[in-house]
Amino acid sequence: MARSNPGLLLGLLLLRLNWCLAVDGGGAEEGGGVFPVVVSTWPFREAVRAAWDVVKTGGAGGSAVDAVVAGCSACEELRCDGTVGPGGSPDEKGETTLDALIMNGKTMEIGAVAAMRYVKDAIMAAKLVMEHTGHTLLVGEKATSFAISMGLAGPTNLSSPESIEKWSNWRQNNCQPNFWKNVAPAGNCGPYHPINIPKDPVKSAVWENQGITCQEWLQNDNLLEPTSSHFNSVNRHNHDTISMAVIDKMGHVAVGTSTNGATFKIPGR
Ligand SMILES: *[C@@H]1O[C@H](CO)[C@@H](O)[C@H](O)[C@H]1NC(C)=O
Repeated sequence: MARSNPGLLLGLLLLRLNWCLAVDGGGAEEGGGVFPVVVSTWPFREAVRAAWDVVKTGGAGGSAVDAVVAGCSACEELRCDGTVGPGGSPDEKGETTLDALIMNGKTMEIGAVAAMRYVKDAIMAAKLVMEHTGHTLLVGEKATSFAISMGLAGPTNLSSPESIEKWSNWRQNNCQPNFWKNVAPAGNCGPYHPINIPKDPVKSAVWENQGITCQEWLQNDNLLEPTSSHFNSVNRHNHDTISMAVIDKMGHVAVGTSTNGATFKIPGR
């Protein structure tokens, strides 16, 4: 029952997280009617639709890579949840920077940008890294220069009135919460300096808990296992960002993600 496996797997994934999914309901088409498939985190319907339009049209359909770019770009333009594209998630200096990654399952190539400034089109920049360089990851202003030199628009102001207001309110609240630990002054805005690590690191390492949660889940390769209490802490209100997987009509897989990162992050994160 090879045909039912993708459906079963996707069904199990849907039980585990909030996903948005588009599949061919048509049954017996080319490729057995299973593909194309588009899956996205969260109910980002417009992004799934944009990817679907690419992968569904024409005889062989558009490529999975192009569909991932279309889907993630749609979210960047729509600023999905304020967590994708420009205008959201200011860092602790108030600046919005972008991260994106794309993988082509057919060629096993990867491209990514991180902490990219002044360019809106993060997933397109990641695709340019993948297709036109021998590198995997470009960062910061060097990623900006690369993206602009390859034809993307910029430099652009990635802040919005909303992101600046959010940041001002946070400053007024003594820059709380933030991502620092084992520093002084605690409970206030920086500059910070390191202090001795306390004897009980568990209590101080609030932010590391999230990393441990993910790791535990990833190590659990049995999707039928009951959800752990740790895993339940992942929900719509503390996780966001678009990640998308596409299988095109040819059966090729591509995945991508695009985000403006964590709000009030330390610049460079
Ligand atoms: C960028 O945009 C924000 C929000 O509209 C604005 O407050 C800020 O002054 C702009 N920065 C520059 C350098 O134009």
